[in-house]
Amino acid sequence: MDLQLKGRRTLVTGSSSGIGEGIARMLAQEGCAVVVHGRNRERAETVAAEIKAAGVAIGDLSTDEGAAAVHAEALAALGGNIEILINNAGGSSTGNTTKTPIEISPADWISNYHTNTLAAVRLCGLAVPDMVAAQWGRVINVSSAVAVQPNNMGADYSGAKAALNNFTLSLAGSLKGVGVTANTVSPGIIMVDGMLRFGRQKYGDPNLTIEGVTQRLAADKVFDLPPAGRLGTPQDLALVICMLASPMSGFITGANYRVDGGQVRTV
Ligand SMILES: NC(=O)c1ccc[n+]([C@@H]2O[C@H](COP(=O)([O-])OP(=O)(O)OC[C@H]3O[C@@H](n4cnc5c(N)ncnc54)[C@H](OP(=O)(O)O)[C@@H]3O)[C@@H](O)[C@H]2O)c1
Repeated sequence: MDLQLKGRRTLVTGSSSGIGEGIARMLAQEGCAVVVHGRNRERAETVAAEIKAAGVAIGDLSTDEGAAAVHAEALAALGGNIEILINNAGGSSTGNTTKTPIEISPADWISNYHTNTLAAVRLCGLAVPDMVAAQWGRVINVSSAVAVQPNNMGADYSGAKAALNNFTLSLAGSLKGVGVTANTVSPGIIMVDGMLRFGRQKYGDPNLTIEGVTQRLAADKVFDLPPAGRLGTPQDLALVICMLASPMSGFITGANYRVDGGQVRTV
Protein backbone atom coordinates (compact mmCIF):
# COMPACT_ATOMS: atom_id res chain seq x y z
CA MET A 1 0.00 0.00 0.00
CA ASP A 2 1.26 3.49 -0.82
CA LEU A 3 0.80 5.55 2.35
CA GLN A 4 1.29 8.76 0.32
CA LEU A 5 4.07 9.95 2.60
CA LYS A 6 6.63 10.81 -0.07
CA GLY A 7 8.29 14.17 0.55
CA ARG A 8 6.26 14.95 3.68
CA ARG A 9 8.30 17.25 5.94
CA THR A 10 8.68 15.43 9.24
CA LEU A 11 10.29 16.01 12.64
CA VAL A 12 10.71 13.00 14.94
CA THR A 13 11.86 14.14 18.37
CA GLY A 14 14.11 11.83 20.36
CA SER A 15 15.12 9.95 17.21
CA SER A 16 18.81 9.73 18.06
CA SER A 17 18.07 6.35 19.70
CA GLY A 18 15.43 3.82 20.69
CA ILE A 19 11.81 4.03 19.59
CA GLY A 20 12.29 7.39 17.88
CA GLU A 21 15.12 6.04 15.76
CA GLY A 22 12.87 3.18 14.63
CA ILE A 23 10.07 5.63 13.79
CA ALA A 24 12.42 7.93 11.86
CA ARG A 25 13.84 4.98 9.96
CA MET A 26 10.44 3.68 8.82
CA LEU A 27 9.11 7.14 7.91
CA ALA A 28 12.27 7.76 5.86
CA GLN A 29 11.78 4.41 4.12
CA GLU A 30 8.24 5.55 3.27
CA GLY A 31 9.74 8.62 1.59
CA CYS A 32 9.28 11.31 4.25
CA ALA A 33 11.87 14.07 4.51
CA VAL A 34 12.84 13.38 8.12
CA VAL A 35 14.70 15.55 10.61
CA VAL A 36 16.41 13.52 13.35
CA HIS A 37 16.45 15.09 16.80
CA GLY A 38 18.34 14.52 20.04
CA ARG A 39 20.43 16.44 22.52
CA ASN A 40 23.69 14.95 21.29
CA ARG A 41 24.63 16.14 17.78
CA GLU A 42 27.03 13.31 17.04
CA ARG A 43 24.46 10.60 17.87
CA ALA A 44 21.75 12.38 15.85
CA GLU A 45 24.06 12.84 12.85
CA THR A 46 25.01 9.16 12.90
CA VAL A 47 21.33 8.13 12.67
CA ALA A 48 20.60 10.83 10.08
CA ALA A 49 23.40 9.59 7.82
CA GLU A 50 22.21 5.98 8.13
CA ILE A 51 18.61 6.70 7.19
CA LYS A 52 19.42 9.43 4.63
CA ALA A 53 17.52 12.05 6.63
CA ALA A 54 16.94 15.65 5.57
CA GLY A 55 19.01 16.84 8.52
CA VAL A 56 19.22 17.08 12.29
CA ALA A 57 17.85 19.43 14.94
CA ILE A 58 19.53 19.54 18.33
CA GLY A 59 18.23 20.78 21.65
CA ASP A 60 16.82 20.08 25.09
CA LEU A 61 13.02 20.07 24.83
CA SER A 62 12.57 20.47 28.57
CA THR A 63 13.10 24.23 28.10
CA ASP A 64 11.33 26.86 25.94
CA GLU A 65 14.66 27.99 24.48
CA GLY A 66 15.69 24.46 23.58
CA ALA A 67 12.38 23.78 21.84
CA ALA A 68 12.61 27.04 19.88
CA ALA A 69 16.11 26.12 18.72
CA VAL A 70 14.95 22.64 17.63
CA HIS A 71 12.02 24.11 15.73
CA ALA A 72 14.22 26.67 13.93
CA GLU A 73 16.85 24.10 12.96
CA ALA A 74 14.17 21.68 11.72
CA LEU A 75 12.57 24.36 9.51
CA ALA A 76 15.96 25.22 8.03
CA ALA A 77 16.74 21.56 7.29
CA LEU A 78 13.29 20.91 5.78
CA GLY A 79 13.07 24.14 3.78
CA GLY A 80 9.45 24.59 4.84
CA ASN A 81 7.02 24.03 7.68
CA ILE A 82 6.77 20.79 9.65
CA GLU A 83 3.88 18.75 8.24
CA ILE A 84 4.26 15.69 10.46
CA LEU A 85 5.34 16.17 14.08
CA ILE A 86 6.15 13.09 16.13
CA ASN A 87 6.63 14.06 19.77
CA ASN A 88 8.54 11.00 20.94
CA ALA A 89 11.36 12.47 23.08
CA GLY A 90 10.98 11.63 26.73
CA GLY A 91 11.35 8.93 29.31
CA SER A 92 11.54 9.18 33.08
CA SER A 93 13.83 12.14 33.74
CA THR A 94 14.17 11.07 37.39
CA GLY A 95 14.38 7.28 37.09
CA ASN A 96 12.05 6.88 40.07
CA THR A 97 11.24 3.26 39.31
CA THR A 98 11.42 2.15 42.94
CA LYS A 99 9.89 5.16 44.71
CA THR A 100 6.32 5.18 46.01
CA PRO A 101 4.17 8.26 45.32
CA ILE A 102 4.86 9.82 48.72
CA GLU A 103 8.62 9.38 48.29
CA ILE A 104 8.66 11.37 45.03
CA SER A 105 9.38 15.08 45.41
CA PRO A 106 7.44 17.92 43.77
CA ALA A 107 10.69 18.80 41.95
CA ASP A 108 10.72 15.33 40.38
CA TRP A 109 7.11 15.77 39.24
CA ILE A 110 8.02 19.10 37.65
CA SER A 111 11.06 17.60 35.94
CA ASN A 112 9.00 14.83 34.33
CA TYR A 113 6.29 17.31 33.39
CA HIS A 114 8.85 19.38 31.48
CA THR A 115 10.31 16.36 29.68
CA ASN A 116 7.20 14.30 28.94
CA THR A 117 4.34 16.79 28.72
CA LEU A 118 5.64 20.27 28.01
CA ALA A 119 8.20 19.13 25.41
CA ALA A 120 5.22 18.21 23.19
CA VAL A 121 3.21 21.26 24.25
CA ARG A 122 6.11 23.53 23.27
CA LEU A 123 6.64 22.01 19.84
CA CYS A 124 2.92 21.91 19.09
CA GLY A 125 2.73 25.61 19.97
CA LEU A 126 5.49 26.30 17.46
CA ALA A 127 4.51 23.93 14.64
CA VAL A 128 0.72 23.54 14.66
CA PRO A 129 -0.15 27.14 13.56
CA ASP A 130 1.76 26.51 10.30
CA MET A 131 -0.12 23.21 9.81
CA VAL A 132 -3.42 25.01 10.29
CA ALA A 133 -2.39 27.70 7.80
CA ALA A 134 -1.51 24.97 5.28
CA GLN A 135 -4.75 23.08 6.07
CA TRP A 136 -2.84 19.85 6.58
CA GLY A 137 -0.82 18.31 9.36
CA ARG A 138 -0.27 15.37 11.66
CA VAL A 139 0.66 15.43 15.35
CA ILE A 140 1.46 12.10 16.98
CA ASN A 141 2.44 12.07 20.64
CA VAL A 142 4.25 9.06 22.09
CA SER A 143 2.85 8.40 25.55
CA SER A 144 2.94 5.16 27.55
CA ALA A 145 0.74 2.32 28.73
CA VAL A 146 1.37 3.59 32.27
CA ALA A 147 -0.52 6.80 31.48
CA VAL A 148 -3.78 4.85 31.83
CA GLN A 149 -2.54 1.89 33.90
CA PRO A 150 0.08 3.33 36.26
CA ASN A 151 2.45 1.26 38.34
CA ASN A 152 2.67 2.00 42.06
CA MET A 153 6.20 3.31 41.50
CA GLY A 154 7.24 6.19 39.22
CA ALA A 155 4.04 8.25 39.48
CA ASP A 156 5.92 11.38 38.41
CA TYR A 157 6.52 9.81 34.98
CA SER A 158 3.13 8.14 34.50
CA GLY A 159 1.33 11.30 35.66
CA ALA A 160 3.21 13.38 33.09
CA LYS A 161 2.26 10.93 30.33
CA ALA A 162 -1.39 11.03 31.47
CA ALA A 163 -1.28 14.81 31.06
CA LEU A 164 0.12 14.30 27.55
CA ASN A 165 -2.88 12.09 26.66
CA ASN A 166 -5.19 14.77 28.00
CA PHE A 167 -3.42 17.52 26.03
CA THR A 168 -3.64 15.50 22.81
CA LEU A 169 -7.39 15.02 23.08
CA SER A 170 -7.93 18.74 23.73
CA LEU A 171 -5.67 19.60 20.80
CA ALA A 172 -7.57 17.26 18.47
CA GLY A 173 -10.89 18.76 19.56
CA SER A 174 -9.66 22.30 18.98
CA LEU A 175 -8.50 21.55 15.41
CA LYS A 176 -11.97 21.21 13.92
CA GLY A 177 -12.17 20.86 10.16
CA VAL A 178 -8.70 22.21 9.42
CA GLY A 179 -7.09 19.02 8.08
CA VAL A 180 -4.83 18.57 11.10
CA THR A 181 -5.16 15.49 13.29
CA ALA A 182 -3.66 14.79 16.73
CA ASN A 183 -3.32 11.30 18.19
CA THR A 184 -1.53 9.46 20.94
CA VAL A 185 0.38 6.21 20.58
CA SER A 186 0.98 4.36 23.85
CA PRO A 187 3.77 1.79 23.97
CA GLY A 188 3.94 -1.01 26.49
CA ILE A 189 7.42 -2.28 27.32
CA ILE A 190 9.60 -1.83 24.26
CA MET A 191 13.03 -3.40 24.00
CA VAL A 192 15.40 -0.53 23.18
CA ASP A 193 19.20 -0.49 23.33
CA GLY A 194 19.12 1.03 26.83
CA MET A 195 17.20 -1.97 28.15
CA LEU A 196 19.46 -4.42 26.34
CA ARG A 197 22.48 -2.72 27.95
CA PHE A 198 20.75 -2.82 31.36
CA GLY A 199 20.05 -6.56 31.04
CA ARG A 200 23.54 -7.45 29.83
CA GLN A 201 25.04 -5.49 32.72
CA LYS A 202 22.65 -6.95 35.29
CA TYR A 203 23.48 -10.54 34.27
CA GLY A 204 27.15 -9.87 33.50
CA ASP A 205 26.84 -11.29 29.97
CA PRO A 206 27.68 -8.89 27.11
CA ASN A 207 26.50 -11.47 24.54
CA LEU A 208 22.92 -11.82 25.80
CA THR A 209 20.43 -11.39 22.95
CA ILE A 210 17.17 -9.42 23.14
CA GLU A 211 15.32 -12.70 23.66
CA GLY A 212 17.81 -13.73 26.35
CA VAL A 213 17.49 -10.46 28.25
CA THR A 214 13.70 -10.56 27.96
CA GLN A 215 13.49 -14.11 29.33
CA ARG A 216 15.85 -13.41 32.24
CA LEU A 217 14.07 -10.18 33.24
CA ALA A 218 10.65 -11.86 32.98
CA ALA A 219 11.86 -14.86 35.03
CA ASP A 220 13.14 -12.45 37.70
CA LYS A 221 9.74 -10.70 37.70
CA VAL A 222 11.24 -7.36 36.66
CA PHE A 223 8.12 -7.28 34.46
CA ASP A 224 5.38 -9.65 33.29
CA LEU A 225 5.35 -10.54 29.63
CA PRO A 226 2.15 -9.26 27.97
CA PRO A 227 -0.30 -11.61 26.20
CA ALA A 228 1.68 -11.23 22.95
CA GLY A 229 4.40 -13.26 24.71
CA ARG A 230 7.24 -10.89 23.94
CA LEU A 231 8.31 -7.31 24.44
CA GLY A 232 7.67 -4.73 21.75
CA THR A 233 10.15 -3.38 19.23
CA PRO A 234 10.53 0.16 17.84
CA GLN A 235 9.19 -1.25 14.54
CA ASP A 236 5.92 -2.23 16.25
CA LEU A 237 5.43 1.45 17.11
CA ALA A 238 6.69 2.78 13.80
CA LEU A 239 4.11 0.79 11.85
CA VAL A 240 1.18 2.42 13.65
CA ILE A 241 2.79 5.84 13.40
CA CYS A 242 3.25 5.53 9.63
CA MET A 243 -0.44 4.71 9.35
CA LEU A 244 -1.50 7.70 11.47
CA ALA A 245 0.87 10.02 9.58
CA SER A 246 -0.64 9.07 6.23
CA PRO A 247 -3.00 11.47 4.44
CA MET A 248 -5.38 8.50 4.31
CA SER A 249 -5.84 8.67 8.11
CA GLY A 250 -7.71 11.99 8.14
CA PHE A 251 -10.71 10.52 9.98
CA ILE A 252 -8.59 9.30 12.91
CA THR A 253 -8.08 12.05 15.47
CA GLY A 254 -8.16 12.27 19.27
CA ALA A 255 -7.44 8.55 19.47
CA ASN A 256 -5.03 6.71 21.74
CA TYR A 257 -3.50 3.70 20.00
CA ARG A 258 -2.12 1.09 22.39
CA VAL A 259 0.90 -0.81 21.08
CA ASP A 260 1.51 -2.89 24.18
CA GLY A 261 1.07 -6.56 23.26
CA GLY A 262 -2.18 -6.62 25.25
CA GLN A 263 -0.63 -5.26 28.47
CA VAL A 264 -3.37 -2.75 29.30
CA ARG A 265 -6.52 -4.49 30.48
CA THR A 266 -9.37 -2.26 29.42
CA VAL A 267 -12.27 -2.36 26.98
N1 LIG B 1 11.05 1.89 25.89
C1 LIG B 1 9.89 1.70 26.51
O1 LIG B 1 9.64 0.60 27.05
C2 LIG B 1 8.85 2.79 26.54
C3 LIG B 1 7.60 2.46 27.05
C4 LIG B 1 6.60 3.43 27.08
C5 LIG B 1 6.85 4.69 26.60
N2 LIG B 1 8.09 5.00 26.11
C6 LIG B 1 8.28 6.36 25.60
O2 LIG B 1 8.85 6.30 24.31
C7 LIG B 1 9.66 7.43 24.07
C8 LIG B 1 11.04 6.98 23.59
O3 LIG B 1 11.65 6.20 24.61
P1 LIG B 1 12.87 5.19 24.36
O4 LIG B 1 12.63 4.01 25.20
O5 LIG B 1 13.10 5.04 22.92
O6 LIG B 1 14.04 6.01 25.07
P2 LIG B 1 15.57 6.31 24.64
O7 LIG B 1 16.15 5.20 23.85
O8 LIG B 1 16.23 6.71 25.91
O9 LIG B 1 15.43 7.58 23.70
C9 LIG B 1 14.93 8.77 24.21
C10 LIG B 1 15.12 9.86 23.19
O10 LIG B 1 14.55 11.07 23.70
C11 LIG B 1 15.55 12.07 23.74
N3 LIG B 1 15.34 12.90 24.92
C12 LIG B 1 15.14 12.51 26.20
N4 LIG B 1 14.97 13.59 26.99
C13 LIG B 1 15.06 14.67 26.19
C14 LIG B 1 14.99 16.07 26.41
N5 LIG B 1 14.81 16.59 27.63
N6 LIG B 1 15.14 16.89 25.35
C15 LIG B 1 15.37 16.40 24.13
N7 LIG B 1 15.46 15.09 23.85
C16 LIG B 1 15.30 14.24 24.88
C17 LIG B 1 16.89 11.33 23.78
O11 LIG B 1 17.89 12.18 23.25
P3 LIG B 1 19.47 12.05 23.65
O12 LIG B 1 20.10 11.31 22.52
O13 LIG B 1 19.92 13.42 23.76
O14 LIG B 1 19.53 11.32 24.97
C18 LIG B 1 16.59 10.14 22.88
O15 LIG B 1 16.72 10.49 21.52
C19 LIG B 1 9.68 8.22 25.37
O16 LIG B 1 8.75 9.26 25.31
C20 LIG B 1 9.27 7.19 26.42
O17 LIG B 1 8.67 7.79 27.54
C21 LIG B 1 9.09 4.07 26.08
